[in-house]
Amino acid sequence: MLHSVYYSLLLLALFALGVQAGIDPSKQRCAFTKGTWCTNYAKQEPVPWKPAPRGSKECPGGCNNVGRCNYDTGLCDCPAGWTGLGCKTPQKRPCTHKQRKGDPGENATQPYSHIGPDGRDLDWTNVPHPQYYSRCGGICDDDVAICYCDGPMGRIPAPPGSPPGTPPLQVGRPLMTMAHAPKTTWDGRKAFGEVDYNLVYGPRGYCNVTDPEWVPNCGMDGLWGRTCDEPIQMFCPGGCAGHGRCYLGYCICDEGYYGHDCARRKAGLPLLPSTIPTTRWLAEVVREPPAALEPPPAPTRKRPLIYVYDLEPMYQAKILQYRVTPRWCVHRWHVWPNNHTEWTDLWVYAMDTLLHESLLVSPHRTFDPEEADFFYVPHQASCLPFPIGAWADFPWFPDAGGPRTRQMLNMVIEAVQWINATFPFWQRRGGRDHIFTFTHDEGACWAPNIVNNSIWLTHWGRMELNHTSNTAYLLDKYDRDTPTLLQPDGFVHLFKGHPCYNPDKDLVIPAFKAPGHYASSGLVGAPTRERDLLFFFRGDVGKRRQPNYSRGVRQAIYRAAKEGDWATKHKFFIGGHDDIKGEYSNMLGRAKFCLVAPGDGWSARMEDAVLHGCIPVIIADGVHAVFESILDIDDFGLRIPQDQVPRILDILLAVPARAIRSKQAHLGRVWQRFRYASIPGLSEELKRMQLHNKPRREAEAAAYANATAAAAAAAGGGAAAAAAPKLPLPQPFTGDPTEDDAFDTIMQWLYSRIPHTRG
Ligand SMILES: *[C@@H]1O[C@H](CO)[C@@H](O)[C@H](O)[C@H]1NC(C)=O
Ligand SMILES: *[C@@H]1O[C@H](CO)[C@@H](O)[C@H](O)[C@H]1NC(C)=O
Ligand SMILES: *[C@@H]1O[C@H](CO)[C@@H](O)[C@H](O)[C@H]1NC(C)=O
Ligand SMILES: *[C@@H]1O[C@H](CO)[C@@H](O)[C@H](O)[C@H]1NC(C)=O
Ligand SMILES: *[C@@H]1O[C@H](CO)[C@@H](O)[C@H](O)[C@H]1NC(C)=O
Ligand SMILES: *[C@@H]1O[C@H](CO)[C@@H](O)[C@H](O)[C@H]1NC(C)=O
Ligand SMILES: *[C@@H]1O[C@H](CO)[C@@H](O)[C@H](O)[C@H]1NC(C)=O
Ligand SMILES: *[C@@H]1O[C@H](CO)[C@@H](O)[C@H](O)[C@H]1NC(C)=O
Repeated sequence: MLHSVYYSLLLLALFALGVQAGIDPSKQRCAFTKGTWCTNYAKQEPVPWKPAPRGSKECPGGCNNVGRCNYDTGLCDCPAGWTGLGCKTPQKRPCTHKQRKGDPGENATQPYSHIGPDGRDLDWTNVPHPQYYSRCGGICDDDVAICYCDGPMGRIPAPPGSPPGTPPLQVGRPLMTMAHAPKTTWDGRKAFGEVDYNLVYGPRGYCNVTDPEWVPNCGMDGLWGRTCDEPIQMFCPGGCAGHGRCYLGYCICDEGYYGHDCARRKAGLPLLPSTIPTTRWLAEVVREPPAALEPPPAPTRKRPLIYVYDLEPMYQAKILQYRVTPRWCVHRWHVWPNNHTEWTDLWVYAMDTLLHESLLVSPHRTFDPEEADFFYVPHQASCLPFPIGAWADFPWFPDAGGPRTRQMLNMVIEAVQWINATFPFWQRRGGRDHIFTFTHDEGACWAPNIVNNSIWLTHWGRMELNHTSNTAYLLDKYDRDTPTLLQPDGFVHLFKGHPCYNPDKDLVIPAFKAPGHYASSGLVGAPTRERDLLFFFRGDVGKRRQPNYSRGVRQAIYRAAKEGDWATKHKFFIGGHDDIKGEYSNMLGRAKFCLVAPGDGWSARMEDAVLHGCIPVIIADGVHAVFESILDIDDFGLRIPQDQVPRILDILLAVPARAIRSKQAHLGRVWQRFRYASIPGLSEELKRMQLHNKPRREAEAAAYANATAAAAAAAGGGAAAAAAPKLPLPQPFTGDPTEDDAFDTIMQWLYSRIPHTRG
């Protein structure tokens, strides 16, 4: 009898894990998918490996000793500070941000450059307006607009007349912002900064002595420690493949290596071992791209094969250099003291750097554009213009002004024009086989018509043609047209006429959630709990927002819940941090239903819900949730029309217990598609979490088995199983984290799109 109880328990567990014997494993893995994209991917004929093509076109003048030669095109890729053919033209970015529209200096004809030829501010006592974001109280490195200390601990630039590319004699301690600069001059006159003069330049000042009495926050990537002068590894996508050095997002390649991640090798030269395996902190995270290896890691490859453009640095690497601050625009950074990588979802748009890096080190990458199924354009528009433009007066696309969306749109247009002028592949299929990511709040609503035919990976699945911006953050309104000197007709006509997302050719993909974000989820094996909360949402419920924030959805539910005291009566929780306490991951793991409603545009709540096994309640008419076009969302989620919001409590209370359990079980089989695990460092971290949780998970299973047995014994056997406590659902995931993760899902879907790009 005990046996049969155990047996039914085991069956339930097996069912939850999706490993029922005798069923085609590809069908199991493709559970709850729509159409054939998933099964066809599994059935495909693999492509034989072949050696990567290698270029040998020389660049003019050795790229002036500052740039990197691309041996495919014979063009120089210049780092921040340089531009033009051969990287011979300086391209400066002074440490200053001029007045913006509405400020007293708005009509100034010249940018206010406060920086003299020696890199020092011309006049500290010129304090025209408090709205400056950037002034330098030391010496400005005007390649990237980084301010360093003056004085003994400060920067010593290369002597005047040194050849281009000569490093400074001393890097110096950074003095990043006006908040770090002195508020007076040495003789007490009012200056633009905010701290006491002596803290910076006094006898024990930060810029003057080794062990100062005061230190600012260390603000730039590459330096850390109390006094901000210990070098740490900077972030470059793919860690420069172990064939180059990273400088703030730009890879300086070893002799004969090329491409934006130094993965390519010039024709005729022997392949050298990558330094990744011997550099602990890189080996923990990335690997040398399989496409670069000879002999190959495997004799065959799976389609889709994707060519990642070595984009003009202005649309990719330079933007990362200009971001300056380690925490902006990226999905990970290295931290002191061990250069360990920290994953982060603080910069909510960072799916673009993550997807880029995932592709660089993926077996789907090809260096051969002729065999490529797709072309990936790794533009960094999501980093514009905050912090990029808000930090210094450069770069603008094409000039200052307008909402952030205007800058992004123009940059994407420029990038396409550059691609079209440099490679034949845009023309060949009218851009249909090109892939762009759009991670901005309102996704691709403002994507320029020039990329109409391309594949858009976005977080915002709004489908109607006749859309207007619904952001309550007015600086972002994409339909607020802005004629400027260089764009007198405005920019709106450059995108009008397409929907934000077309389910036939585009895909709504998950935002990046760092593994720590769901550390308390039972799905990674943290102790599962009874789901004692009916409903959970914590976040901005629009208390101080325009009424159109979240389309009014969050506000309406919040009000109703508060007025009806649903928290006490029904364990229905919605509110801000002041309303609901508790650890976020923990709370999500205790809830049966979790709200997925818009914010200004998308809000990564589908990810939060699914990663915690909480049934997503999707409220956004005419908007596809993550993967809604390719997964059977009804099997594990619930959609409520906006006009039914007043009835939400009744609707949720009426969902039968069986339906809830079924959805929960199904969540356990699709959740992995909502988390990114393809970069080696991410899958290792997830494996560690699973392993760490294993003993607790096993103890829990044993306790449930005991309780079940006890219940059976008490009931005298036979029909006992019904009385037994039910295992909490969904059950933990124990498989290989890279299998069918978000990245893999995108690859599987792209495979199904190949024929459509060829017509
Ligand atoms: C700048 O010029 C515009 C248009 O002439 C004017 O409306 C505005 O007041 C001027 N701003 C300042 C600060 O003088
Ligand atoms: C600190 O360094 C600055 C710049 O070299 C110098 O002007 C100043 O006199 C120094 N302060 C002290 C107290 O030595
Ligand atoms: C971290 O990386 C930087 C740059 O690669 C290196 O100079 C430093 O020695 C590394 N730190 C440690 C503790 O290994
Ligand atoms: C691409 O280049 C071709 C030939 O130079 C030109 O005719 C076409 O208009 C360009 N397309 C775009 C989108 O710039
Ligand atoms: C498009 O939207 C505008 C503004 O919301 C509205 O006035 C117009 O009637 C709509 N047109 C169509 C075809 O729906
Ligand atoms: C949102 O509402 C505010 C005030 O009600 C309005 O000014 C703004 O234009 C609205 N935004 C949109 C996108 O409708
Ligand atoms: C893009 O699509 C819109 C809407 O279908 C259309 O008005 C526009 O002409 C298209 N632009 C291009 C460049 O294909
Ligand atoms: C299960 O029950 C047995 C016998 O009552 C007991 O020895 C054991 O500690 C229990 N295990 C758990 C995990 O509760």
